[in-house]
Formats: sequence, C-alpha cells, structure tokens
Amino acid sequence: MHETVGSAVGNDELAALRLLALQGGLEGDLKISCAGLADRLDASNQTASRRLQRLESAGYLERETVADGQWVAITDDGERALRSAYEAYRRIFETGGEVELEGRVTSGMGEGRHYISLPGYKRQFEERLGYEPFLGTLNVELDDDSVRRRRATASLASIPIDGWEDEDRTYGPAVCRPATVESATGETYENAHTIAPERTHHDEDQLELIAPEKLRDTLSLEDDEDVTITVGDR
Ligand code: CDP
Repeated sequence: MHETVGSAVGNDELAALRLLALQGGLEGDLKISCAGLADRLDASNQTASRRLQRLESAGYLERETVADGQWVAITDDGERALRSAYEAYRRIFETGGEVELEGRVTSGMGEGRHYISLPGYKRQFEERLGYEPFLGTLNVELDDDSVRRRRATASLASIPIDGWEDEDRTYGPAVCRPATVESATGETYENAHTIAPERTHHDEDQLELIAPEKLRDTLSLEDDEDVTITVGDR
C-alpha cells in the first residue's frame, strides 16, 4: 500500500475508522458518543477516545465536540486509507484488478516533454517500462466519478520510478501503471502508462499518460475529446 499512514495510525485506528464509515461517516457529519463507539470496539472509553484523537491528528477525521457527544466526518485522506485497505482485500479475493476512468483530452503547459526527456527518468522508463517514451505526456481531465474511482488505483500493480538528482536539484519519485487508452470512436492503444508523482495527491483530476507513440496521432485525438482509460493488469 502506498498511502501514507500517520505514525500513530495503526490497525486499531483503522478499525475504528471503518466502523465510523459503516455508520455513515463517509456520507457526511455523523453524531457519535465515545461510550457507544467504545462499546462497539470492545474497548474502554479512554481507548476509543484516543483512537479518535489519533485519527484526527492524522487528518483522517474531523471532529466537533458538543454537549452530548461529538460530530465526526471522515476526510478525503481518511477515505483513501479505507479504500487502500479495501483494495488490498479486493486483490486477495478477486483477480484482475482494473479501474476504468473517463475524461477529456487537454493541453498542459508543455512541461511533460521536459520531464520525460530528463536522463534520470528516461533511463528508467526504458529499463522498467520497456520503451523509450514519446517526449511528452498526454493530459486527461477526469470527470468527477473518475476522480473518485482513481483513488482505487492506489493498490493496483505499479512500476516505481526512483527519484534522482543532478548538480542543481533533486527530482522526485514517480509511479507508473499500465493503461489502455480508448478514443470515443472505439480505437484502442494498449501500451500506455499512467505517470504521477509518488507523494502528492494534488491535481487528482489530471491524469497524465506516457506511451512509446504520440497518442494524439495514433488515436487521432484532439483537445476536449472523450477518452476512456483502463488502468491495471496487462
Ligand atoms: O504539457 P503539454 O500537454 O502541452 O505537452 P507535452 O507533455 O509536452 O506533450 C507534447 C504533446 O504531445 C501534447 O500535445 C501531448 O498531448 C501530446 N502527447 C501525445 O499525444 N502522446 C504522448 N504519449 C505524449 C504526449
């Protein structure tokens, strides 16, 4: 699992978070009492309260204490942690993990070309993906549902690209995952990869793809065209 789990958050805390999610904590604010939670967790009030505190400091939970209990809401990071556990179980019990995403082609700011051409990355693409990528990244702006589904890609098989440095600066690690790109006309390209910085969750709606060929040419893609990206096993 790649999710950063705050040091104080272990399986006990995640179990408490799962319980809150089962009670509806992902849908919005949820009113709970510490005693009620303690009971369900088969733990003391103090223990239940400490687990909530840890979940809050890890940024997995927002809380507001009122006279007769507290309101809690699971944050996006909390949901990611749960999804990551879910995906791990899914991979144990199901085979062929794949996530289908939809979005439209956009133009970036020409940065893709620069990064892909840097020798420290280029060498790894050749070794680990097995091809020399076309110099650039195809940007896809994901629709809202796909932004949510994208979180499920966290535990799909991934190919790590290590960080490296030259005299001037350091370049961060990235993660690639095999992806198939399908255009609105049904043409598909199977040998692409998603690429994303390893640690940030910024720009969750922007998916970037690399491939040995220029996808805009191979699939005749223009800005604003719908594409379907299947991320996962190949
Ligand atoms: O950042 P921006 O989208 O402007 O461009 P880039 O990453 O430098 O990539 C150059 C061009 O090639 C862009 O139009 C990309 O959409 C496109 N591209 C592609 O069609 N297929 C690839 N495998 C990579 C980039």
